[in-house]
Amino acid sequence: MLNIQKIRQDFPILNEVINGKPLVYFDNAATTQKPTPVLEALMGYYGHTNANIHRGIHHLAEKATADFEASRHKIRSFLNAQLWEEIIFTYGTTDGINLVAQTYGRKFLKAGDEILISAMEHHSNIVPWQMLCEENGCVLRIIPINDEGELLMDEYEKMLSERTKLVSVVHVSNSLGTINPVAEIIQKAHAVGAKVLIDGAQATSHIDIDVQALDCDFYVFSLHKLYGPTGMGVLYGKKALLDAMPPYRGGGEMIKEVTFDKTTYNELPYKFEAGTPNIADVVAAKTAVEYIENLGKANVAAYEHELLEYATEALQSIDGLRLVGTAKEKISVNSFVMDGIHHQDVGVILDQQGIAIRTGHHCTQPLMHRLGLAGTSRASFAVYNTKEEIDKLVVGLHRVKKMLG
Ligand code: ALA
Repeated sequence: MLNIQKIRQDFPILNEVINGKPLVYFDNAATTQKPTPVLEALMGYYGHTNANIHRGIHHLAEKATADFEASRHKIRSFLNAQLWEEIIFTYGTTDGINLVAQTYGRKFLKAGDEILISAMEHHSNIVPWQMLCEENGCVLRIIPINDEGELLMDEYEKMLSERTKLVSVVHVSNSLGTINPVAEIIQKAHAVGAKVLIDGAQATSHIDIDVQALDCDFYVFSLHKLYGPTGMGVLYGKKALLDAMPPYRGGGEMIKEVTFDKTTYNELPYKFEAGTPNIADVVAAKTAVEYIENLGKANVAAYEHELLEYATEALQSIDGLRLVGTAKEKISVNSFVMDGIHHQDVGVILDQQGIAIRTGHHCTQPLMHRLGLAGTSRASFAVYNTKEEIDKLVVGLHRVKKMLG
Protein backbone atom coordinates (compact mmCIF):
# COMPACT_ATOMS: atom_id res chain seq x y z
CA MET A 1 0.00 0.00 0.00
CA LEU A 2 1.28 3.45 -0.88
CA ASN A 3 1.60 6.10 1.79
CA ILE A 4 0.13 9.00 -0.16
CA GLN A 5 0.76 11.63 2.52
CA LYS A 6 4.43 10.64 2.55
CA ILE A 7 4.54 10.72 -1.25
CA ARG A 8 3.03 14.20 -1.22
CA GLN A 9 5.95 15.39 0.92
CA ASP A 10 8.26 14.48 -1.96
CA PHE A 11 6.61 17.15 -4.13
CA PRO A 12 7.41 20.63 -2.76
CA ILE A 13 5.12 22.38 -5.22
CA LEU A 14 2.10 20.77 -3.56
CA ASN A 15 2.63 23.20 -0.67
CA GLU A 16 1.95 26.19 -2.91
CA VAL A 17 -0.97 28.42 -2.07
CA ILE A 18 -2.90 29.58 -5.15
CA ASN A 19 -5.39 32.44 -4.84
CA GLY A 20 -5.34 31.99 -1.09
CA LYS A 21 -6.12 28.24 -1.30
CA PRO A 22 -3.87 25.19 -1.08
CA LEU A 23 -3.02 24.00 -4.58
CA VAL A 24 -5.07 21.10 -5.93
CA TYR A 25 -3.14 20.02 -8.99
CA PHE A 26 -5.34 18.12 -11.44
CA ASP A 27 -3.50 18.91 -14.67
CA ASN A 28 -1.25 15.88 -14.65
CA ALA A 29 -2.02 14.84 -18.21
CA ALA A 30 -0.46 18.13 -19.29
CA THR A 31 2.57 17.66 -17.06
CA THR A 32 3.24 16.00 -13.73
CA GLN A 33 4.97 17.67 -10.80
CA LYS A 34 8.55 16.74 -9.92
CA PRO A 35 9.66 15.03 -6.70
CA THR A 36 12.61 16.29 -4.66
CA PRO A 37 14.98 13.54 -5.86
CA VAL A 38 14.48 14.73 -9.46
CA LEU A 39 15.05 18.36 -8.42
CA GLU A 40 18.18 17.26 -6.56
CA ALA A 41 19.41 15.35 -9.58
CA LEU A 42 19.16 18.53 -11.65
CA MET A 43 20.90 20.60 -8.98
CA GLY A 44 23.49 17.88 -8.51
CA TYR A 45 24.28 17.77 -12.18
CA TYR A 46 24.65 21.52 -12.58
CA GLY A 47 26.32 21.95 -9.19
CA HIS A 48 28.86 19.15 -9.41
CA THR A 49 29.08 17.48 -12.82
CA ASN A 50 28.22 19.96 -15.57
CA ALA A 51 30.32 19.28 -18.68
CA ASN A 52 29.63 18.39 -22.27
CA ILE A 53 29.40 14.68 -22.99
CA HIS A 54 31.18 12.30 -25.37
CA ARG A 55 33.78 14.99 -26.03
CA GLY A 56 36.22 15.81 -23.24
CA ILE A 57 38.67 13.48 -21.56
CA HIS A 58 38.67 15.46 -18.33
CA HIS A 59 37.07 14.13 -15.18
CA LEU A 60 33.80 16.07 -15.37
CA ALA A 61 33.25 15.21 -19.03
CA GLU A 62 33.71 11.55 -18.26
CA LYS A 63 31.39 11.69 -15.25
CA ALA A 64 28.69 13.58 -17.21
CA THR A 65 28.98 11.07 -20.06
CA ALA A 66 28.72 8.12 -17.67
CA ASP A 67 25.63 9.61 -15.98
CA PHE A 68 24.03 10.38 -19.32
CA GLU A 69 24.60 6.85 -20.61
CA ALA A 70 23.46 5.34 -17.29
CA SER A 71 20.12 7.00 -17.93
CA ARG A 72 19.92 5.32 -21.33
CA HIS A 73 20.52 1.94 -19.71
CA LYS A 74 17.87 2.67 -17.07
CA ILE A 75 15.32 3.55 -19.76
CA ARG A 76 16.23 0.45 -21.73
CA SER A 77 15.28 -1.68 -18.75
CA PHE A 78 12.21 0.49 -17.97
CA LEU A 79 10.85 -0.33 -21.45
CA ASN A 80 12.38 -3.80 -21.51
CA ALA A 81 14.02 -2.97 -24.83
CA GLN A 82 16.52 -5.56 -25.96
CA LEU A 83 19.39 -3.17 -26.71
CA TRP A 84 20.58 0.14 -25.26
CA GLU A 85 21.26 1.40 -28.81
CA GLU A 86 17.51 1.28 -29.42
CA ILE A 87 16.95 4.15 -26.95
CA ILE A 88 17.23 7.54 -28.67
CA PHE A 89 16.97 10.68 -26.57
CA THR A 90 14.67 13.31 -28.05
CA TYR A 91 13.11 16.55 -26.90
CA GLY A 92 9.76 14.89 -26.24
CA THR A 93 7.00 12.80 -27.76
CA THR A 94 6.36 15.30 -30.54
CA ASP A 95 10.02 15.29 -31.48
CA GLY A 96 10.09 11.48 -31.58
CA ILE A 97 7.11 11.27 -33.93
CA ASN A 98 8.56 13.94 -36.20
CA LEU A 99 11.85 12.06 -36.24
CA VAL A 100 10.15 8.88 -37.46
CA ALA A 101 8.00 10.74 -40.00
CA GLN A 102 10.94 12.65 -41.42
CA THR A 103 13.37 9.73 -41.57
CA TYR A 104 11.51 6.42 -41.81
CA GLY A 105 8.52 8.06 -43.49
CA ARG A 106 10.48 9.99 -46.09
CA LYS A 107 12.67 7.05 -46.99
CA PHE A 108 10.24 4.16 -46.93
CA LEU A 109 6.75 5.51 -47.63
CA LYS A 110 5.71 6.27 -51.19
CA ALA A 111 2.72 7.83 -52.96
CA GLY A 112 -0.40 5.75 -52.38
CA ASP A 113 0.94 4.07 -49.22
CA GLU A 114 -1.48 4.33 -46.34
CA ILE A 115 -0.79 5.57 -42.83
CA LEU A 116 -3.45 4.72 -40.24
CA ILE A 117 -3.99 6.89 -37.19
CA SER A 118 -7.00 7.05 -34.90
CA ALA A 119 -9.75 9.61 -34.34
CA MET A 120 -8.45 10.30 -30.83
CA GLU A 121 -4.89 11.33 -31.74
CA HIS A 122 -3.14 14.35 -30.29
CA HIS A 123 -2.10 16.89 -32.92
CA SER A 124 1.45 15.63 -32.53
CA ASN A 125 0.40 12.30 -34.01
CA ILE A 126 -1.59 13.90 -36.83
CA VAL A 127 0.33 16.86 -38.20
CA PRO A 128 3.73 15.16 -38.79
CA TRP A 129 1.95 12.55 -40.94
CA GLN A 130 -0.05 15.19 -42.80
CA MET A 131 3.19 16.99 -43.58
CA LEU A 132 4.65 13.74 -44.87
CA CYS A 133 1.55 12.98 -46.96
CA GLU A 134 1.70 16.43 -48.55
CA GLU A 135 5.29 15.84 -49.44
CA ASN A 136 5.22 12.30 -50.78
CA GLY A 137 1.60 11.52 -51.62
CA CYS A 138 0.89 9.02 -48.83
CA VAL A 139 -2.70 8.71 -47.71
CA LEU A 140 -3.75 9.32 -44.11
CA ARG A 141 -6.70 7.22 -42.92
CA ILE A 142 -8.51 7.52 -39.61
CA ILE A 143 -9.61 4.61 -37.43
CA PRO A 144 -13.04 5.61 -36.07
CA ILE A 145 -14.23 5.52 -32.46
CA ASN A 146 -17.56 4.97 -30.72
CA ASP A 147 -19.29 7.55 -28.52
CA GLU A 148 -17.64 6.14 -25.38
CA GLY A 149 -14.25 6.92 -26.90
CA GLU A 150 -13.15 3.40 -27.82
CA LEU A 151 -11.55 2.40 -31.09
CA LEU A 152 -13.78 0.47 -33.46
CA MET A 153 -11.52 -2.52 -33.88
CA ASP A 154 -13.70 -4.14 -36.58
CA GLU A 155 -13.37 -1.01 -38.67
CA TYR A 156 -9.64 -1.00 -38.05
CA GLU A 157 -9.35 -4.55 -39.34
CA LYS A 158 -11.32 -3.67 -42.45
CA MET A 159 -9.01 -0.73 -43.16
CA LEU A 160 -5.87 -2.86 -43.07
CA SER A 161 -4.53 -4.00 -46.46
CA GLU A 162 -1.28 -4.43 -48.35
CA ARG A 163 -1.39 -0.65 -48.86
CA THR A 164 -1.09 -0.06 -45.10
CA LYS A 165 2.55 0.71 -44.39
CA LEU A 166 2.38 2.39 -41.02
CA VAL A 167 -0.05 2.45 -38.09
CA SER A 168 0.54 5.21 -35.55
CA VAL A 169 -1.77 5.26 -32.55
CA VAL A 170 -1.91 6.63 -29.07
CA HIS A 171 -1.54 4.13 -26.22
CA VAL A 172 -3.69 6.21 -23.86
CA SER A 173 -5.84 9.14 -24.98
CA ASN A 174 -4.91 12.46 -23.33
CA SER A 175 -8.44 13.81 -23.73
CA LEU A 176 -10.49 10.74 -22.82
CA GLY A 177 -8.20 8.48 -20.82
CA THR A 178 -9.01 5.50 -23.07
CA ILE A 179 -6.42 2.73 -22.97
CA ASN A 180 -6.19 1.35 -26.48
CA PRO A 181 -5.63 -2.36 -27.15
CA VAL A 182 -2.20 -1.71 -28.60
CA ALA A 183 -0.97 -5.32 -28.53
CA GLU A 184 -3.85 -6.35 -30.78
CA ILE A 185 -3.38 -3.28 -32.99
CA ILE A 186 0.28 -4.14 -33.47
CA GLN A 187 -0.32 -7.79 -34.17
CA LYS A 188 -2.99 -7.04 -36.80
CA ALA A 189 -0.82 -4.38 -38.47
CA HIS A 190 2.12 -6.76 -38.63
CA ALA A 191 -0.09 -9.37 -40.27
CA VAL A 192 -0.35 -7.08 -43.33
CA GLY A 193 3.33 -6.09 -43.14
CA ALA A 194 2.81 -2.60 -41.66
CA LYS A 195 5.07 -1.05 -39.05
CA VAL A 196 3.61 0.40 -35.85
CA LEU A 197 4.43 3.48 -33.79
CA ILE A 198 2.86 3.84 -30.35
CA ASP A 199 2.51 7.29 -28.78
CA GLY A 200 3.04 6.51 -25.12
CA ALA A 201 2.98 10.09 -23.79
CA GLN A 202 0.08 9.41 -21.42
CA ALA A 203 0.80 5.75 -20.77
CA THR A 204 4.23 5.43 -19.19
CA SER A 205 3.33 6.78 -15.75
CA HIS A 206 0.30 4.50 -15.43
CA ILE A 207 0.99 1.28 -17.35
CA ASP A 208 3.92 -1.15 -17.46
CA ILE A 209 5.54 -0.92 -20.87
CA ASP A 210 7.31 -3.90 -22.41
CA VAL A 211 8.27 -3.05 -25.97
CA GLN A 212 9.45 -6.60 -26.69
CA ALA A 213 6.19 -8.17 -25.52
CA LEU A 214 4.20 -5.54 -27.45
CA ASP A 215 6.47 -6.05 -30.45
CA CYS A 216 5.95 -2.41 -31.47
CA ASP A 217 8.38 -0.99 -34.02
CA PHE A 218 8.56 2.45 -32.40
CA TYR A 219 7.47 3.71 -28.97
CA VAL A 220 7.70 7.39 -28.03
CA PHE A 221 7.14 9.25 -24.77
CA SER A 222 8.11 12.33 -22.74
CA LEU A 223 9.67 12.31 -19.30
CA HIS A 224 7.76 15.33 -18.02
CA LYS A 225 4.57 13.30 -17.79
CA LEU A 226 6.47 10.75 -15.74
CA TYR A 227 7.58 13.00 -12.84
CA GLY A 228 10.68 13.95 -14.84
CA PRO A 229 11.95 17.10 -16.54
CA THR A 230 10.39 18.90 -19.51
CA GLY A 231 12.11 19.09 -22.86
CA MET A 232 13.23 15.50 -22.81
CA GLY A 233 11.79 12.35 -24.32
CA VAL A 234 12.59 8.95 -25.71
CA LEU A 235 12.20 7.23 -29.03
CA TYR A 236 12.49 3.46 -28.84
CA GLY A 237 12.90 1.79 -32.22
CA LYS A 238 13.86 -1.70 -33.31
CA LYS A 239 17.53 -1.65 -34.16
CA ALA A 240 17.15 -2.97 -37.71
CA LEU A 241 14.70 -0.18 -38.51
CA LEU A 242 16.75 2.56 -36.86
CA ASP A 243 19.84 1.30 -38.71
CA ALA A 244 18.00 1.50 -42.02
CA MET A 245 16.73 5.03 -41.39
CA PRO A 246 18.67 8.10 -42.52
CA PRO A 247 19.74 10.58 -39.84
CA TYR A 248 17.36 13.33 -38.75
CA ARG A 249 19.27 16.47 -37.83
CA GLY A 250 22.82 17.05 -39.04
CA GLY A 251 25.59 18.36 -36.81
CA GLY A 252 28.11 17.33 -34.21
CA GLU A 253 27.94 13.93 -32.50
CA MET A 254 25.89 12.27 -35.25
CA ILE A 255 28.92 11.96 -37.56
CA LYS A 256 31.75 9.49 -37.95
CA GLU A 257 33.84 11.60 -40.32
CA VAL A 258 33.26 14.92 -42.03
CA THR A 259 35.01 16.25 -45.10
CA PHE A 260 33.72 18.92 -47.46
CA ASP A 261 33.10 16.16 -50.01
CA LYS A 262 31.28 13.65 -47.86
CA THR A 263 30.16 12.88 -44.33
CA THR A 264 29.72 9.45 -42.85
CA TYR A 265 27.33 8.96 -39.98
CA ASN A 266 27.74 7.70 -36.46
CA GLU A 267 26.25 4.50 -35.16
CA LEU A 268 23.13 4.12 -33.07
CA PRO A 269 21.99 5.80 -30.99
CA TYR A 270 24.23 8.80 -31.69
CA LYS A 271 23.24 8.97 -35.37
CA PHE A 272 19.99 10.55 -34.16
CA GLU A 273 21.42 12.77 -31.44
CA ALA A 274 22.99 15.74 -33.23
CA GLY A 275 24.26 18.61 -31.11
CA THR A 276 24.69 18.95 -27.38
CA PRO A 277 21.73 17.11 -25.92
CA ASN A 278 19.62 18.01 -22.94
CA ILE A 279 22.19 16.48 -20.60
CA ALA A 280 20.89 17.57 -17.21
CA ASP A 281 17.36 16.49 -17.99
CA VAL A 282 18.49 13.14 -19.35
CA VAL A 283 20.49 12.55 -16.18
CA ALA A 284 17.47 13.49 -14.01
CA ALA A 285 15.23 11.24 -16.12
CA LYS A 286 16.95 8.25 -14.54
CA THR A 287 15.96 9.50 -11.11
CA ALA A 288 12.36 10.01 -12.25
CA VAL A 289 12.17 6.45 -13.55
CA GLU A 290 13.70 5.13 -10.33
CA TYR A 291 11.17 7.13 -8.35
CA ILE A 292 8.21 5.49 -10.02
CA GLU A 293 9.90 2.08 -9.96
CA ASN A 294 10.34 2.42 -6.22
CA LEU A 295 6.67 3.20 -5.79
CA GLY A 296 5.82 0.24 -8.03
CA LYS A 297 3.84 0.86 -11.20
CA ALA A 298 1.18 -1.67 -10.17
CA ASN A 299 0.64 0.13 -6.84
CA VAL A 300 0.40 3.47 -8.62
CA ALA A 301 -2.05 2.11 -11.18
CA ALA A 302 -4.24 0.53 -8.49
CA TYR A 303 -4.34 3.73 -6.44
CA GLU A 304 -5.08 5.93 -9.45
CA HIS A 305 -7.86 3.55 -10.45
CA GLU A 306 -9.39 3.99 -7.02
CA LEU A 307 -9.28 7.77 -7.55
CA LEU A 308 -10.84 7.36 -10.98
CA GLU A 309 -13.75 5.31 -9.63
CA TYR A 310 -14.30 7.75 -6.79
CA ALA A 311 -14.21 10.75 -9.14
CA THR A 312 -16.44 9.12 -11.75
CA GLU A 313 -19.14 8.54 -9.19
CA ALA A 314 -18.75 11.98 -7.62
CA LEU A 315 -18.79 13.83 -10.93
CA GLN A 316 -21.75 11.86 -12.23
CA SER A 317 -23.73 12.94 -9.20
CA ILE A 318 -23.54 16.58 -10.34
CA ASP A 319 -26.67 17.55 -12.24
CA GLY A 320 -26.00 18.76 -15.76
CA LEU A 321 -22.46 17.39 -15.85
CA ARG A 322 -21.62 14.82 -18.53
CA LEU A 323 -18.44 12.78 -18.60
CA VAL A 324 -16.67 12.63 -21.96
CA GLY A 325 -14.72 9.42 -22.43
CA THR A 326 -16.28 6.48 -20.68
CA ALA A 327 -14.25 3.62 -22.15
CA LYS A 328 -14.21 0.36 -20.20
CA GLU A 329 -10.41 0.52 -20.12
CA LYS A 330 -9.25 3.93 -19.02
CA ILE A 331 -6.73 5.73 -16.85
CA SER A 332 -7.44 8.53 -14.40
CA VAL A 333 -8.43 11.26 -16.86
CA ASN A 334 -11.82 12.87 -16.25
CA SER A 335 -13.07 15.00 -19.12
CA PHE A 336 -16.49 16.54 -18.77
CA VAL A 337 -18.87 19.20 -20.04
CA MET A 338 -21.50 21.11 -18.08
CA ASP A 339 -24.86 22.17 -19.44
CA GLY A 340 -24.86 25.79 -20.55
CA ILE A 341 -21.43 26.54 -19.02
CA HIS A 342 -18.33 27.18 -21.10
CA HIS A 343 -15.35 25.00 -20.18
CA GLN A 344 -13.10 28.03 -19.92
CA ASP A 345 -15.35 29.53 -17.25
CA VAL A 346 -15.16 26.26 -15.34
CA GLY A 347 -11.36 26.47 -15.41
CA VAL A 348 -11.27 30.11 -14.29
CA ILE A 349 -13.64 29.61 -11.36
CA LEU A 350 -11.85 26.47 -10.20
CA ASP A 351 -8.54 28.31 -10.42
CA GLN A 352 -9.90 30.94 -8.05
CA GLN A 353 -10.26 28.06 -5.59
CA GLY A 354 -6.71 26.85 -6.17
CA ILE A 355 -7.78 23.94 -8.38
CA ALA A 356 -5.75 23.50 -11.58
CA ILE A 357 -7.43 21.69 -14.44
CA ARG A 358 -7.03 21.93 -18.21
CA THR A 359 -9.80 23.23 -20.44
CA GLY A 360 -10.19 23.38 -24.20
CA HIS A 361 -9.57 20.94 -27.03
CA HIS A 362 -6.49 19.38 -25.42
CA CYS A 363 -4.61 19.44 -28.75
CA THR A 364 -7.18 17.01 -30.15
CA GLN A 365 -9.36 19.24 -32.32
CA PRO A 366 -10.45 16.45 -34.71
CA LEU A 367 -11.55 14.36 -31.70
CA MET A 368 -13.58 17.25 -30.32
CA HIS A 369 -15.12 17.66 -33.76
CA ARG A 370 -16.04 13.96 -33.83
CA LEU A 371 -17.69 14.34 -30.42
CA GLY A 372 -19.48 17.54 -31.41
CA LEU A 373 -17.71 19.59 -28.74
CA ALA A 374 -15.63 22.77 -28.75
CA GLY A 375 -13.73 21.49 -25.75
CA THR A 376 -14.01 19.93 -22.32
CA SER A 377 -12.86 20.51 -18.77
CA ARG A 378 -10.31 17.88 -17.77
CA ALA A 379 -9.15 16.80 -14.33
CA SER A 380 -6.33 14.28 -14.61
CA PHE A 381 -4.82 12.53 -11.60
CA ALA A 382 -1.38 11.44 -10.49
CA VAL A 383 -0.17 9.36 -7.58
CA TYR A 384 -0.06 12.34 -5.17
CA ASN A 385 -3.74 13.24 -5.60
CA THR A 386 -6.31 12.35 -2.95
CA LYS A 387 -10.03 11.75 -2.51
CA GLU A 388 -10.19 14.90 -0.36
CA GLU A 389 -8.96 16.86 -3.37
CA ILE A 390 -11.67 15.27 -5.51
CA ASP A 391 -14.20 16.39 -2.89
CA LYS A 392 -12.84 19.94 -3.29
CA LEU A 393 -13.31 19.66 -7.03
CA VAL A 394 -16.92 18.64 -6.54
CA VAL A 395 -17.52 21.58 -4.17
CA GLY A 396 -15.83 23.82 -6.72
CA LEU A 397 -18.06 22.57 -9.52
CA HIS A 398 -21.15 23.22 -7.44
CA ARG A 399 -19.90 26.76 -7.01
CA VAL A 400 -19.44 27.03 -10.78
CA LYS A 401 -23.05 25.95 -11.23
CA LYS A 402 -24.28 28.40 -8.65
CA MET A 403 -22.42 31.25 -10.31
CA LEU A 404 -23.17 30.41 -13.94
CA GLY A 405 -25.70 27.59 -14.20
N1 ALA B 1 -0.64 16.74 -24.33
C1 ALA B 1 -0.73 17.45 -23.11
C2 ALA B 1 -2.14 17.51 -22.58
O1 ALA B 1 -2.93 16.67 -22.89
C3 ALA B 1 -0.08 18.76 -23.17
O2 ALA B 1 -2.46 18.40 -21.85
